Amino acid sequence: MDSIFSSLRDYRNSFRYFRLQKRYFASGLGDSAWILHGLVRALKPRVCVEIGAAMGKSACYIGMALKENRQGKLYSIDPHEQTDWNDTDQIDTYNSFIKNIHDFNLDDYVEIVRNFSNKVGPSWKLPIDIIFIDGDHSYEGVKRDWSLFSPMVSEFGLVVFHDTLWDIRPDPRYARADMGVPRFVEELRSNGYPVVTFDKNFGVSLVQPTKGGILLSK
Ligand SMILES: C[S@@+](CC[C@H](N)C(=O)[O-])C[C@H]1O[C@@H](n2cnc3c(N)ncnc32)[C@H](O)[C@@H]1O
Repeated sequence: MDSIFSSLRDYRNSFRYFRLQKRYFASGLGDSAWILHGLVRALKPRVCVEIGAAMGKSACYIGMALKENRQGKLYSIDPHEQTDWNDTDQIDTYNSFIKNIHDFNLDDYVEIVRNFSNKVGPSWKLPIDIIFIDGDHSYEGVKRDWSLFSPMVSEFGLVVFHDTLWDIRPDPRYARADMGVPRFVEELRSNGYPVVTFDKNFGVSLVQPTKGGILLSK
């Protein structure tokens, strides 16, 4: 009996993932959204946070993984209004974000925090297992997000940054003098934080927010 139910579940999931891959999110995250999905499936986080939601690509991939895990919540922080870092034609993304979350039945797994991260960060109380930072991409903005949220990350938790390869793999179509993510994440790396970078979709870097990494043996 169990195997019938799990086959039915697998069938339903493959249909959902097919729809998810077909959905247009106007996002630069590309297939790297699967990195977020895979981390969530593997690590079974209770609390995920994202800074920068736009139309919800990262939120849907994280949310689908939480739904499959049957536990955890994503707190998705974005004012959904004009900032210095909206993609073209992506100013008020609130309605399309809600629609995407709703279409994939993720309402129980994604909590919308319609605000700026610097307003939310100072009163943040929950321990965070995974945080995805993809909001204000200026040096000051990304550094502020790190300072506000990384102290709340649990042991073995992860901070994931998008757009970390803009300096060494520049794409002239999207060049911006005020892009500060690569410089900030490079500073973390050179100050001893473990950083693993994937050379895909403008760079995705995983950072363990413990200088020198976590001791594996005494
Ligand atoms: C590149 S988009 C995010 C893309 C999204 N993660 C995805 O998977 O498609 C950047 C988003 O960051 C948001 N943003 C900019 N500054 C922010 C801040 N200080 N706090 C929260 N969100 C911010 C913008 O409103 C915009 O929707």
